[in-house]
Amino acid sequence: MKVLGISGSLRDQSNTLYYLKTALQVLEQEDIETELISLRDKEIKPCTGCYDCQTQGCCTIRGDDFEDLFTRMRRVEGLILGSPVYLSSVVPQMMALLARATFVSYWNGRFFNGKVGGPITVAQRAGHNLAFSQLLLWFFFNGLIVPGSIYWNVGVAGTRGARDADQDLIGLEVVSTFARNLAGLMKKLF
Ligand SMILES: Cc1cc2nc3c(=O)[nH]c(=O)nc-3n(C[C@H](O)[C@H](O)[C@H](O)COP(=O)(O)O)c2cc1C
Repeated sequence: MKVLGISGSLRDQSNTLYYLKTALQVLEQEDIETELISLRDKEIKPCTGCYDCQTQGCCTIRGDDFEDLFTRMRRVEGLILGSPVYLSSVVPQMMALLARATFVSYWNGRFFNGKVGGPITVAQRAGHNLAFSQLLLWFFFNGLIVPGSIYWNVGVAGTRGARDADQDLIGLEVVSTFARNLAGLMKKLF
């Protein structure tokens, strides 16, 4: 059983990465294998709407990191998607990955169906829940099962040195509880 965490932040000292690491540490303590990938050093071109995936079984956009990421997403039982909130939304690089992953899956056996996971969104002030909902829509569209926590998985953090993830004790407790619930769900399902 394995959970893949993907962080959409392009920042070096990313808060989103910090929340994801917190969640993955809990999963490791529960004897679930984890992997963490940051989109910081990845290039994901946007979906062009060509619909080649419908007829060719894969995304035909070449020359970026999509295929490798997509293969890793496909292999695991669990996915945690973390995104900073930009203008109340999920960051574009994460949405580019999710749009392409969804369509390849949709036309080719819907293989995310029955996996588990959930979102984490991180903002300095406002917009967490809108971005969180965007990611939840992705999980539900693709048939993944999402456990809850004691609150929504949202972190309050700015840039390093101001208000940071490691100060957000409630947010860290929320994502830890989410991760424990995810581990419990996985042990029942897989
Ligand atoms: C272009 C841009 C847009 C942002 N929009 C919002 C926003 O709508 N609401 C908010 O509270 N914070 C906003 N922020 C702040 C980030 O969400 C916040 O710094 C977050 O911790 C960044 O996550 P990271 O450290 O993982 O990159 C924005 C930051 C940038 C650069």
